[in-house]
Amino acid sequence: MQNTDQVTHADHVAVIMDGNGRWATARGLERLKGHVKGVDRVRDVVRAAPKFGIDFLTVFAFSTENWKRSEREVTGLMNLFKRYIRGEAATLDEDNVRVRFIGDRGPLDRKLRSLMDELERLTETNTGLKLTIALNYGGRDEITRAVGRIAKAAKMGMIAPEDVSEQMISNFLDTSELPDPDLVIRTSGECRTSNFLPWQACYAEYVFTDTAWPDFTVAEMVKILTQFRARDRRFGAVALK
Ligand code: IPE
Ligand code: IPE
Ligand code: MG
Repeated sequence: MQNTDQVTHADHVAVIMDGNGRWATARGLERLKGHVKGVDRVRDVVRAAPKFGIDFLTVFAFSTENWKRSEREVTGLMNLFKRYIRGEAATLDEDNVRVRFIGDRGPLDRKLRSLMDELERLTETNTGLKLTIALNYGGRDEITRAVGRIAKAAKMGMIAPEDVSEQMISNFLDTSELPDPDLVIRTSGECRTSNFLPWQACYAEYVFTDTAWPDFTVAEMVKILTQFRARDRRFGAVALK
């Protein structure tokens, strides 16, 4: 296995895990089977991430727009999330992974919410990979909720208009404890962000791959990390070469 530092300086990698449904349909299976397979890939990537110098891994599991899908698929996904948490909690903890969720928990069912809380509590003091799962997450929704909280704090006299800064806004987002993503990977050939981390990823590098998420391998992740490393990130400045 390659040495961590040789491969990447991507501290924070975010993944739009897309293509589960099409993967299943192409095999004559129901869409949910693709999601089930996708969970295996999450396990692989979580396991591999620390070996490649990734300190923060954020995965998009369910968007605020995904409620538009059939009731069967939505329920199936919610059950899968519960199964994932129940099945993985002990291993994640043993692997020293700290798990947090971002997104609006309000619309999720009580059982799922309590499993999420439990997993966060269980892994709270772990010092290894920081795994963030975006569940009922939408970037615009996150910003809207943040603005609501800022307005409330202003109304209570806790902040003044001149206190509003980029840093302050970041602090009010669900991701307040995370650095901005360095790299966003999207599988399945779609070249769009679909409301994933619009504020945080404004200077991220994007890699789009045609591979469907259920077929994504650690070997491909390493290839993508190598590609990322060759990029010249300028952040608006002039390259020093
Ligand atoms: C990503 O796969 C998983 C979720 C959005 C929950 P999709 O379910 O979007 O798969 P495709 O894009 O329809 O193939
Ligand atoms: C984005 O994928 C959401 C997740 C991966 C959870 P979608 O499949 O929902 O995005 P669109 O609809 O193709 O833009
Ligand atoms: Mg999709």
